[in-house]
Amino acid sequence: MSTVIKGGTIVTADRTYAADVLVEGGVITAIGPDLKGDTVIDAEGAYVMPGGIDPHTHLEMPFMGTVTAETWESGTFAAVSGGTTLVVDHIIPGEGGMLPALDTWLERATRQASCDYSFHMSVTGWSERIFDDMAAVVDRGVNTFKHFMAYKGALMVNDDEMFASFSRCRDLGALPFVHAENGDMVASLQQQLLAEGNRGPEAHAYSRPPAVEGEATNRAIMIADAAGVPVYIVHTSSEEAHEAIRRWRQAGTRVWGEPLIQHLLLDEGVYNDPDWNYAAQRVMSPPFRDRKHQDSLWAGLAAGSLHVVATDHCAFTTEQKQAGRGDFTRIPNGTGGLEDRMPLLWTYGVETGRITMNEFVAITSTNIAQILNIYPRKGAVMVGTDADLVVWDPKAGKTIAAATQKSIIDYNVFEGWKVTGLPRYTLSRGDVVWGPGVDAPQPGRGRHVTRPAFPAVSRALSTWRELTAPRPVVRSPEFMPIGV
Ligand code: URP
Ligand code: ZN
Ligand code: ZN
Ligand code: ZN
Repeated sequence: MSTVIKGGTIVTADRTYAADVLVEGGVITAIGPDLKGDTVIDAEGAYVMPGGIDPHTHLEMPFMGTVTAETWESGTFAAVSGGTTLVVDHIIPGEGGMLPALDTWLERATRQASCDYSFHMSVTGWSERIFDDMAAVVDRGVNTFKHFMAYKGALMVNDDEMFASFSRCRDLGALPFVHAENGDMVASLQQQLLAEGNRGPEAHAYSRPPAVEGEATNRAIMIADAAGVPVYIVHTSSEEAHEAIRRWRQAGTRVWGEPLIQHLLLDEGVYNDPDWNYAAQRVMSPPFRDRKHQDSLWAGLAAGSLHVVATDHCAFTTEQKQAGRGDFTRIPNGTGGLEDRMPLLWTYGVETGRITMNEFVAITSTNIAQILNIYPRKGAVMVGTDADLVVWDPKAGKTIAAATQKSIIDYNVFEGWKVTGLPRYTLSRGDVVWGPGVDAPQPGRGRHVTRPAFPAVSRALSTWRELTAPRPVVRSPEFMPIGV
C-alpha cells in the first residue's frame, strides 16, 4: 500500500517548493511531480511540513503531591490534532531509580500513544547508582538528562551534583537539559511572601522574578562549559535568561534555549484576575512575565539565539490546582499547550511576519531533531525518512476552546484565542492519525524513538577538550629548583 500526498507545497527548514510526496512502508520513498499511489491525500492549497516535535511534555507524571491529568492517550491525540507527531516526555525516577521508571513510562506510552514518543531522564540527586544507571539509560536510547535547579526539597540538584552529572553526560555523549531557576532564592521568597500575607496565585509570580531565572541560566551554562558539555535550557521565559544564552553563544559556547508558546503569548496580567481558579490554572514555572520579555523571546527566535518552541505540557485540572487554596506554594505548577502550539505559533508568528514559514519548521521540528540526534529520520521531508508529516491548511481557522479540545483537562489557558492555520491531515509514519474521518485516538500505534549518543556537537567538544586537557609540563633539571 502506498500513499501519495498530492498538490501541496513542501516547506522545510531550508526550502519551499511544489512537489508530491510518496509514502510506502511508513517512510518517504519519492518526492517530485505527478507521483501516483494507492491512496491520495489532497494537499491542494496546503503546505506539507515535517510533523511537529514537542520536546517538553509531562504526561501522567507524579508531581507536587499529585499526577498530571493528561494521559498518554489524550495527550498524544491532542498532539496529532495540532500537527505534532513526536513528544519527548520527562521521566522522574522514583524510589526504584532510573531503569524501573523508564519501564513504567515505556509501558504507559506503548499502550496508549497515537504518535511516536521519546524520553528525557531526570537526575534529581547524585550517587554511584545514578552514575551507573546513566550509562544503562543511554544504552536504552535516552541521550538527554534533565536537571532541576528549582523545586528545593524535591527535585532540585545543587551545583556539585550538577557538575558531576554534566561531566557524566559529557563522557556518555549525552546532553544535559536544565530547568534554570535559583531554587534557594525561590524558597526564600516564597516564605517571605507567605509571612507577609501574600497567599494567592499572584504571589507565585512574585516568588520567581526574572533575576532568579537569569542567574540560574548563567550558572548552568558556566557549569556546562567547565564540564565541557553542551547544554539545553528549557522554558526560557525572560530577557535575563535569553541574555545569558545569547552572551555565551557569542563566546562560542554550545547552548540552546527553548521558549514555550505560553511565554511567547501570555503575560503576568493573568495572575491578577479576580477569579482564583483562573489565576491558579495559569501557575507554572517560570511564571508568565511582563510583555517586554515576549519581545525578547520573539527576537531570539528570529535572530537564532533561541532555537525551539515547546509547551512543557504539564496539565492539571482545576480541582488539582485547588490544592493550593490558601497557600500558593501548593498549587501544582504547570500548564497545557500540546495541541495549540503549532496553530498559535503559525498565527502569531508566521501570519504576523515575526518568523518565516521555514523558521516555523526549524523551531517546531528540525532544530530539536538535530539537537536530539534523530535528524533527518525526524524533522525532515526527505527520501528515506519517517513519513511524520503535517498537511497544513493556512486558511483553516478556529477559536480555541476547552469545550472542543482533545486534552482532557477542564480549561485551556488560550480559551478564546483565534488561530488561522491548522492541520488538514497529520501523518505518523505514513498513517493518517488526524484528518477528515479520523477523529479518535489510535492507542498503541506509537513507537519509542531511541536516540544514539554522541551527536556531532558532543564529538566536537570531546575533541577540543582532549586537545586542551591539562598536561604536566616536562622540565629539564637545570630549570628546576634545587632539591626538587
Ligand atoms: O511549571 C512547570 N513548568 N511544570 C512542569 C515541571 C517543570 O518545571 O518543567
Ligand atoms: Zn521541565
Ligand atoms: Zn521546568
Ligand atoms: Zn517541564
